[in-house]
Amino acid sequence: MHKYFAKPLFLGKKIEFLPECHSTNDELQLRLGTGSVEEGFVIHTDNQVKGKGQRGSTWLSEPGQNILFSILLSPSNLLASHTHFLNLMAGLAVCNALDEVLDQKTELKWPNDVYVSNRKIAGILVETILSGNQVDKAIVGIGINLNQSHFPLPVATSVKMETGKHIIRDDLLLAVLAAIEEQYLILKSGGFDQLKLDYYKIMRWRGELHEFKDKEGVFEGEIIGIEDFGRLMVKRSDRLERYDVKEIQFLH
Ligand code: BTN
Repeated sequence: MHKYFAKPLFLGKKIEFLPECHSTNDELQLRLGTGSVEEGFVIHTDNQVKGKGQRGSTWLSEPGQNILFSILLSPSNLLASHTHFLNLMAGLAVCNALDEVLDQKTELKWPNDVYVSNRKIAGILVETILSGNQVDKAIVGIGINLNQSHFPLPVATSVKMETGKHIIRDDLLLAVLAAIEEQYLILKSGGFDQLKLDYYKIMRWRGELHEFKDKEGVFEGEIIGIEDFGRLMVKRSDRLERYDVKEIQFLH
């Protein structure tokens, strides 16, 4: 059966394909420095030799098998203190697009690791350029494990491994761009509460007791949600604590 994939209307009007680059985020950053780049411009590639992950990590991906791209957004009227909503909206978009091709529902491990059946299937790296207290530009970099069948880490999975199906990369790329467009319009119209509520519906470990680690050591706690500045709120036996992304590890 032929699967129908949604197509974006205004994002991704211009898509540039590079057989190889350092990192699509860095490539987009370079373009910004050398001339005007329109909102919605996309760079995607077969291979990144220096793919960047969150918290200074490296994003590894077998050449030609997966989706690796970055998109430029210029959200007018987004306060720098609301930057985390870009993470939420991008995470929701990737989940919505993947839910169309997977048999199981995806989840978002805060801030925006995309999980399915307890394994990571996609990652998102949002980098912003601020102007005063506003977000001027955002580079949203997305890596989706698509047709790769083996990973060095057991925590990783792909669409192929989950479904046995080989998906045409460009079809899913357009579907993800359409999903970003949908969520981005919500963000642009100030629908922050809606984004947060939708995020909570698929937020991994929310409302459950799990083990975490912070600078004081291992503890048991329950994720309550995300506070106004984007920090994770975790209820511990004796207090409610707020964490930035580098300050907490999820154990089990
Ligand atoms: C993470 O989960 O650690 C975030 C991974 C983000 C990877 C994507 S791949 C395309 C874009 N270019 C990069 O260098 N990183 C992002």
